[in-house]
Amino acid sequence: MSKGRTAAAARASVASSIKVDAFTLVQQASRLISREEAEFLLMEITGWKRHEIYTHSRQISKFQVLRFWWMVDKVRTGTPVQYLVNSAPFLDVNLYVDERVFIPRPETEELVLRTGTRVKSPRFILDYGTGSGCIAITLARMFPQAEIWAVDISRPALAVAKRNLGRYQLKDRVRTICLSSLYSNRIDFLEGKLDVLISNPPYIPRERLASIDSKVRDYEPGVSVDGGIGGTAVVGMLLKYGPRFLKPGGLLALEIDHTQESFVRTLVPTAVIEKDFAGYVRYVFWQNLGGDNGK
Ligand SMILES: C[S@@+](CC[C@H](N)C(=O)[O-])C[C@H]1O[C@@H](n2cnc3c(N)ncnc32)[C@H](O)[C@@H]1O
Repeated sequence: MSKGRTAAAARASVASSIKVDAFTLVQQASRLISREEAEFLLMEITGWKRHEIYTHSRQISKFQVLRFWWMVDKVRTGTPVQYLVNSAPFLDVNLYVDERVFIPRPETEELVLRTGTRVKSPRFILDYGTGSGCIAITLARMFPQAEIWAVDISRPALAVAKRNLGRYQLKDRVRTICLSSLYSNRIDFLEGKLDVLISNPPYIPRERLASIDSKVRDYEPGVSVDGGIGGTAVVGMLLKYGPRFLKPGGLLALEIDHTQESFVRTLVPTAVIEKDFAGYVRYVFWQNLGGDNGK
């Protein structure tokens, strides 16, 4: 079967049989979408773990088979698999996601883990550009004593974040605020108070948007990826105004585009810049050591 064909042929032949094993389904769907996507869909539909698809010759119902092929068709024509199943894993949690929010990425899991190793019992944390709430939620679970503010410019995104906060019983400890800049008197009360200001802001340079993966460009919210010219609109704002929110010893932790190292160095010469697991410049850490400290 060629990739270009619809899933209809496979659907017809497989769904018409009375019993279908999961392994065969994944094999057939892998000719249309990636194996990882096929496995993810099947795991969501059946509730199985990945190894269960392969270790037992499992039978699935005709209804599940039809649902599976409907989803395969959607993924083949571009819909991100996470929006189809309204679910995205992030570290130790599983988040509700839909077209209102950015789909959490492994690079951001890494940002959270690296931040977690740099701070001890933080009391006050701000997650700027919270989207699904992935960063705020996982930090809240990592640091049960922390009080967290989850900010976003998008009210629809905040509605999704609240749903996820409810899922993990964190509505008391994580408060959401709709804001478009740190330069707002609505958060004056946080000045000089934060142990951590963390953000995965929109950082894709606008000039590059036309050439990024069409799944991202066409399906994920524009406001979550478009970082303006050079991708530095929100990154620059965070570097400029972020430090004043940190208490002495507080940490600024950002995810950035691999092209933004010199921009960051110009604004904050003492920033520590690190690469991600793929070898791209990706993370900025800056600690408020008091005095001038390069700012
Ligand atoms: C790349 S997404 C990150 C979402 C989530 N934190 C994550 O890591 O998956 C960037 C988020 O920043 C929000 N955002 C964009 N511009 C903003 C601004 N000026 N002020 C506050 N939030 C903004 C978007 O709505 C989006 O939810």
